[in-house]
Amino acid sequence: MRKPILIGNWKMNGSLHANQALMVRVLPRLRMFRKTIDLAVCPPFPYLFQVRDLLGYTGIALGAQNASSFVSGAYTGEVSATMLQEMGCRYVLVGHSERRALFAESSLEVAARYRSVLAAGLTPVLCVGETLAERESNQTGLVIERQLQAVIDEVGLAAMANGIIAYEPVWAIGTGKTATPEQVSRVHQEIRQFIANSAPEASDDISQQLRVIYGGSVKAANAFELFSLADVDGGLIGGASLHADEFGTIAGAL
Ligand code: G3H
Repeated sequence: MRKPILIGNWKMNGSLHANQALMVRVLPRLRMFRKTIDLAVCPPFPYLFQVRDLLGYTGIALGAQNASSFVSGAYTGEVSATMLQEMGCRYVLVGHSERRALFAESSLEVAARYRSVLAAGLTPVLCVGETLAERESNQTGLVIERQLQAVIDEVGLAAMANGIIAYEPVWAIGTGKTATPEQVSRVHQEIRQFIANSAPEASDDISQQLRVIYGGSVKAANAFELFSLADVDGGLIGGASLHADEFGTIAGAL
């Protein structure tokens, strides 16, 4: 039985004041769900310390939005996974489509970052998904398989069991367009099947153990339908995670 997980990705939003106000409103709404689902929020790097303190002993975890593939050294602007671990992070997003598209992170780069997150003892949340053009040219399966394969080649299939996969169709992110339940179900099943087919032994166990969550314009109004799907183990929430009522309702849908 896979425990559902809900992760709020604040992206590049927030301020000391706004974060405090959000947490004061959202934490009481989330607390009641912490036994039945795993919960995490991923603020921008400079606010990790503040949010860690605000989370306190609520049982809600801290996450980061990216991590370097390097451990330390002359890599200006990068933040290592060990630093994030030291800051109290448990989860790290890897390969978010905004990183891939806007900051040219290739699948190879994403795989190296995934490895460094694992090495620091943190849980990587590998984001995969197709663009609209790729969907319309029937490339969805192929694109996602390539994104997954790059990570399998880097860390091996067994190590994937320690991570989470977030399916995020690029065309549904921040657009208000949500993938239909049929589209989500199909891709989630394909991801699990791809993992199951990826190696002869134990891959069935890994594919059943692995949590596959959905992201892309999830809100209170569609969360119940999406989270009722058998292969959806939770959500990666962007915009709606910045609104206490919305995020609280989404948590209640899991
Ligand atoms: O990381 C979160 C996803 O990119 C989804 O963002 O909920 O604003 O569409 P969104």
